[in-house]
Amino acid sequence: MCGIVGIVGKSEVASRLVEGLRRLEYRGYDSAGLATLVDGAITRRRSEGKLSRLTDLLVSQPLPGVTGIGHTRWATHGAPTTTNAHPHATAHVAVVHNGIIENFRELKDDLVARGHIFESETDSEVVAHLVSDGLEQGLTPQAAVSAALKLMRGAFALAILFAGHDGLLIGARRGSPLAVGFGEGEMYLGSDAMALSSWTRQVLYLEEGDWVVLSHAGATVFDANDREVTRAVRTVALSPAMIEKGNYRHYMQKEIFEQPQVIGDALATYLDPATRRPRLPEGGPDWAAVPRLTIVACGTSSYAALVAKYWFEQIARLPVEVDIASEFRYREAPMPKGGVALFISQSGETADTLAALRYAKDENQFIVALVNVPESSMAREADLVLPILAGPEIGVASTKAFTCQLTVLMCLVLAVARSRGTIDAAEEARLCAALSEVPARALEVLNHDEKIRAIALWLAEARDVLYLGRGAIFPIALEGALKLKEISYIHAEGYAAGELKHGPIALIDEAVPVIVLAPHGPLFEKTVSNMQEVLARGGRVVLLSDTAGIETEGRNAAEIIELPMVDAFVTPVLYAIPVQLLAYHTAVAKGTDVDQPRNLAKSVTVE
Ligand code: AGP
Repeated sequence: MCGIVGIVGKSEVASRLVEGLRRLEYRGYDSAGLATLVDGAITRRRSEGKLSRLTDLLVSQPLPGVTGIGHTRWATHGAPTTTNAHPHATAHVAVVHNGIIENFRELKDDLVARGHIFESETDSEVVAHLVSDGLEQGLTPQAAVSAALKLMRGAFALAILFAGHDGLLIGARRGSPLAVGFGEGEMYLGSDAMALSSWTRQVLYLEEGDWVVLSHAGATVFDANDREVTRAVRTVALSPAMIEKGNYRHYMQKEIFEQPQVIGDALATYLDPATRRPRLPEGGPDWAAVPRLTIVACGTSSYAALVAKYWFEQIARLPVEVDIASEFRYREAPMPKGGVALFISQSGETADTLAALRYAKDENQFIVALVNVPESSMAREADLVLPILAGPEIGVASTKAFTCQLTVLMCLVLAVARSRGTIDAAEEARLCAALSEVPARALEVLNHDEKIRAIALWLAEARDVLYLGRGAIFPIALEGALKLKEISYIHAEGYAAGELKHGPIALIDEAVPVIVLAPHGPLFEKTVSNMQEVLARGGRVVLLSDTAGIETEGRNAAEIIELPMVDAFVTPVLYAIPVQLLAYHTAVAKGTDVDQPRNLAKSVTVE
């Protein structure tokens, strides 16, 4: 997704704008640009490709100015060219935009008919001309922006710079997040708090429909009806150290290896240290009276939802429906009176998931948001927020957020089961003990990193890869396939192992590696028989199992990865780690951009 930064500064801003954009690189982009005021005139530097191209341009063509905006563009309308790169500008204003102006065509036609000349194919450029149009009619910058906002439909976060108005920026948000940072006599705008983390930790998030006027004196926030409003300024728990790579080669690698720590942090919050029993924030629903839980998410987060379905139904005896947000938001699903809807999202800003949340809210569901960003839109619109405490996740491929989602979900399931009386104290204690062991067991799994790297060298040669699992491990097969696809670009599919003979087995030959995830337990034998079907057709199997499983079936596999013997309840969290490492090392072997894979964005804030 696009990244936005803006500074009302006391000193030159170009290099700091680039620094802010660097902290947004994880969102994915294909061009970048800056605009400042030089002697009151709008002055731009834009380039295709990575930020390094922009910094090279700034060396040859320095950009002075103490008020400015910057942007990294993830192309939606128009190719990733310099002409389409933001900021878009007229003589009067420069604008950077994240989102989609849905009615840009009709607005553009009207502006062109009135003599405006456009240079790009983008929807965003319309904003510059709309605001300019207001200025040319004699409106103040604030009035021109207010008028323009009322004409636009769609999703946007905007930062706008005005010729002749040093020390003034105006920002606006509708559907795409925008944060305001408070400095010492300086003010900042950013797509999220991470963009501002080098300059301030005092941040306020604009609410839906808000717009804001920044000056050296501070920020004045207006709501969608142009009423001045107050928004809470928070101290965000972000520091540059938290978002550096450290000694790791990639953010993804760092975040994989952070998992024992951050899972432990989540457990320290959600398991009472004295009683070792789950504890949730106040304000939840009466779970004993809940007829059905609906869980909605996208991508990796949707696989956490699928795992949770097994747990809620088996342990808490609570019927669960899971759906991906892009389908759910348009399904017009009838929802039960007294139902709960749970939304899982690392960013808390995924457009489809947010829209699904709003649908469920309109259907009078109790809304729970399980997010990694407590200030996010989903968190703000939920009835109950469950932060997953994974810390900033920079790599586009989600890893530690996924295992922290599962960790918090396990605590939630046990708390719900207790409320519903479906487990006794002894069973709860047993499952909590297994849960408490996860950080240590995760560390053991990470010790297989070198072995997994060796297997990945073989995987890197494959054209297609299958992942098989059963029960609560089946979604981990889906997640393993997604991880491999999204960072190594190798086609992969996850399947419920029992589905193999209903079609996918036709794919099996010696060129198709099959990753079989089979912890020893109730479904082990069934999964092994599927593995035998693969072997009988010349397939080559990588078996992920524990000591008992390896002893029984390891000799037949081409490769084995041995995981600790643990309670079946916690196996999904642990089996997620080797499939993350397999994908990571395969991508490294293939030389792809591990942290910013092609075409992908960290947070999909547009439909
Ligand atoms: C996961 O590796 C992907 N980057 C993607 O599937 C992601 O999980 C999905 O876009 C949902 O994002 P969210 O958790 O921020 O809502």
